[in-house]
Amino acid sequence: MSLPALDDLDVENRRVFVRVDFNVPLKDGEVRDDTRIQASLPTIRRLRERGARVILASHLGRPDGAPDPKYSMEPVGSRLAELLGCEVRLPDEVVGDGVTKLVLDTRAQHVVLLENLRFHPGETKNDPAFAQALASLCEAYVNDAFGASHRAHASVVGVPRLVRARAAGLLLAAETTALGRLVHHPEHPFVTLIGGAKVSDKLPVLIATLERLKAGDSILIGGAMANTFLAARGAQLGASLQESERLADCRNLLTRASARNIRVLLPTDLRIGEGLKATSARIVRVDTLAATLAGGGLGASEMALDIGPDTELRFAAAVQSAKMLFWNGPMGLFESPAFASGTLAMAKAVAACPGFTLVGGGDSVAALQESGLADRIDHISTGGGASLEMLEGKVLPGVEALLGSSSGSGKESA
Ligand code: 3PG
Repeated sequence: MSLPALDDLDVENRRVFVRVDFNVPLKDGEVRDDTRIQASLPTIRRLRERGARVILASHLGRPDGAPDPKYSMEPVGSRLAELLGCEVRLPDEVVGDGVTKLVLDTRAQHVVLLENLRFHPGETKNDPAFAQALASLCEAYVNDAFGASHRAHASVVGVPRLVRARAAGLLLAAETTALGRLVHHPEHPFVTLIGGAKVSDKLPVLIATLERLKAGDSILIGGAMANTFLAARGAQLGASLQESERLADCRNLLTRASARNIRVLLPTDLRIGEGLKATSARIVRVDTLAATLAGGGLGASEMALDIGPDTELRFAAAVQSAKMLFWNGPMGLFESPAFASGTLAMAKAVAACPGFTLVGGGDSVAALQESGLADRIDHISTGGGASLEMLEGKVLPGVEALLGSSSGSGKESA
């Protein structure tokens, strides 16, 4: 699968619509983490160097199809202007006469950043009229929004189907190449380190991953999602998050893995707190939690909030054996210092892994950044959900739309 390349796109003096994923965290009206903005700078710079008139568009948060000042792109525009060192013009709506005028006036010296695409109800519905309104702003289309490419939204799939001149941005190309390596050319031992709150979110990727693994490969499971696996093995976990309707799926996965000699490592000890607001942890061994043991299990208000120190060591040893490793999701309640240890220990272990390492998902990436270890990872994905869907073996709708045939001329004028 080879995506249309950015450098093959004729962009000189053309209005190029660039779908970016600038869905960044904000705090007090400012961008708190600009990783996703930085990640698309190479694409924006390359286009500007080649004389393109750049129109950027992104979603931010999940406003309900109507303008909401809390989700305005304004702070993003300010940060982008600092990073690019040029003027960023921000219309106060997504489409409309004012936008069209601003876009027609776009020159290579500045860029236009449209207002939040999700301020329009047509974006998430992939409404044809909205897609047409966006397409009519441009003469060429670039998708650099890897993190949003699993969404079949108007700016991701509707617009490229209408614009013949289109290409993958440099970020989208780098992401699909790195993730494609894991899916199509896995090296063994392959280690999957997975965490996060809900097992139901991660079961599809675990099932797909299992199919690609060989005897001797490992899946390491931490975070609250491990609770459901532990419960499936008979642990009594008090008030811990768990999904009782997934117990059978977890048992099934464990049986299938064991039949193929694929190791599934679950926590052997846990850090426990009195509810989500706990500020201190006690460590318990999982083998003391069997529901069948007299007095076994956690107290009614106690929760498993992180993996324990023994688990950290076992997981770290397995990580060191990897020729290829994928990590997504925290090992515990990472935002609370009492329960951050497991995730930080995994950040160190993954950074020290000699194999090819790929990490996706907000908390895992934050742990690496906090530890100053991000530059020791081979590829850090900007897309959580999108990277999981690629690992499930799916072709992302945004990628498919770049490859498919278009119904447009690519010469539409604003
Ligand atoms: C993300 O943050 O994962 C992407 O920007 C997609 O956002 P969404 O989950 O709101 O579609």
